[in-house]
Amino acid sequence: MTELSKIGVIGAGTMGSGIAQVFAVAGHHVLMQDLSEPALDRARRSMETSLQRLVKKGSLTEPQAAAAMARVSSTTVFDLLDDRDIVIEAIIERLDVKAEVIRKLDGICRHDAIFASNTSSISLTELAAASAHPGRVIGMHFFNPVPVMQLVEIIRALQTTDAVAEAVTDLTRAIGKTPRVSKDSYGFIVNRLLAPQINEAINCVYEGLATPEDIDSMMKLGANHPMGPLALGDLIGLDVVLNIMETLYQGFDDPKYRPSPLLKQMVAAGYLGRKSGKGFADYPQH
Ligand code: 3HC
Repeated sequence: MTELSKIGVIGAGTMGSGIAQVFAVAGHHVLMQDLSEPALDRARRSMETSLQRLVKKGSLTEPQAAAAMARVSSTTVFDLLDDRDIVIEAIIERLDVKAEVIRKLDGICRHDAIFASNTSSISLTELAAASAHPGRVIGMHFFNPVPVMQLVEIIRALQTTDAVAEAVTDLTRAIGKTPRVSKDSYGFIVNRLLAPQINEAINCVYEGLATPEDIDSMMKLGANHPMGPLALGDLIGLDVVLNIMETLYQGFDDPKYRPSPLLKQMVAAGYLGRKSGKGFADYPQH
């Protein structure tokens, strides 16, 4: 398999910009594509802020941060991804939209290019089925905040070839992250364990058992979690949490995964957490 040096990232949201950043810091050239020019500008600004945090804490020098930024280019033109060795998509969590992206990539990329999805819960096997070369499709699931979190969960679709799984595992190590491989299943491993805990914390709020602050502080002080489940839901995005719970609920057809009524209401109200300025806490928007 050819060396994976040219990286494409589709989607310039929180995850896309974090993914682009970690590849660039590790020395890869990254082309970030998004339909929206303002989203690409925001992504560059958030990368700069994040890199400055790393400089401040001494894990990166100022010239290294500048060099990393210089390795990231951005475009709204999809077809410019045609020379990429691997393209990682981090776009909206909708199977139809992701499948369409894979079909479009099929049309422009080399036959040995790898297509990775950062999906948090969509079936990789169904996504791979959208490609004429399904063996090249794989899950590369990063965690928020991407520059800080060590794990990349690698999810093998039923069709993923051993060579592709190996190449992506090696690439993950090369960017300083720790790969762990899982078979394709609803929510994979981390979100299958994490989302029900957040959902249950929301049920505790719904039942009026304690305040969100106290629930979070109980899990921090009593279970040594770095942040409470409600603050984590706000960080991930409550819409994303709802999405994962619906995938688990429908996929396993098991009532233990039923989304909390309050979670549904929060999402319906547009209270999505940090990104919307309001969730279980308020977040001033700059
Ligand atoms: N870029 C660069 N560095 C960052 C950063 C960013 N975006 N965000 C935080 N950091 C660094 C800080 O500089 C700091 O470094 P230091 O400890 O070496 O000085 C360190 O991370 C800790 O940051 P803070 O001091 O600001 O804050 P905390 O100590 O409260 O840590 C946290 C913040 C890292 C987010 C920590 O609370 C944590 O680990 N929380 C859990 C996060 C988690 O579980 N994420 C997974 C979510 S699930 C997911 O993403 C999957 C999806 O599919 C839903």
